[in-house]
Amino acid sequence: MPKPPLLSSPELERSSVVANNTMNRERGLTGVNSYARELGVDLLAHLAHRPAPSWLDLCSGEGRALREAASALPAEAVLTAVDLVGPLAPRSAPPALEEIVASVSSWTPPRTYDLITCVHGLHYIGDQLGLLTRAASWLTEDGLLAAHFDPESVRHADGSPAARPALSALRAAGYSYSPRHHRLTLRGGRPVQLPFHYLGADPTAGPNYTGQPAIASYYTAS
Ligand SMILES: C[S@@+](CC[C@H](N)C(=O)[O-])C[C@H]1O[C@@H](n2cnc3c(N)ncnc32)[C@H](O)[C@@H]1O
Repeated sequence: MPKPPLLSSPELERSSVVANNTMNRERGLTGVNSYARELGVDLLAHLAHRPAPSWLDLCSGEGRALREAASALPAEAVLTAVDLVGPLAPRSAPPALEEIVASVSSWTPPRTYDLITCVHGLHYIGDQLGLLTRAASWLTEDGLLAAHFDPESVRHADGSPAARPALSALRAAGYSYSPRHHRLTLRGGRPVQLPFHYLGADPTAGPNYTGQPAIASYYTAS
């Protein structure tokens, strides 16, 4: 299989697939167009009964889910939204919410979180496996990571599919994957090492299971 030119993360972030303002960035906490529906998890129930619940949303778009959560959580809650572009319609944020404009490929939080979400964000990240590895270490002991993941977007250096070894390695590290909904979850923070070395990304991979153009991530075994 011919290998396309692979882009670094900064190059990828300037590509039209990632800088695509027709993406659905408006999901709220509950309802038809929501995190609860996409992830199949009652996120507030996961955060309930914690004195200072913390939620990190990676690739947060407009940040609507966190904004809605802020009014249902105690004042001590810590809500962090990270997005490459940030909200396109800036509004004042509730006190518990910190909105960070940065690439999740290089950003690192200074703390751990009870909940980490990435709703249809990994489709635009070059080193998806690297981000999943780093996010595992950002979870609290009983924290939950929930993300959409398309194993078909992981490729070997020659362009052949690496979905099976990627999923095997993730499962061996403790992640659960539901192919029906493309949901990846991890319960409990831990150090993770996956046997992959990131090579670069192909933004011309075409639409993924969502029907939207997405990137393919290339790796060699390490
Ligand atoms: C399909 S939208 C989903 C937004 C939000 N999670 C939602 O469901 O409403 C994907 C988001 O990923 C963001 N994104 C893409 N690449 C990123 C990167 N390297 N770092 C942070 N955010 C990124 C985009 O700016 C966009 O807001």
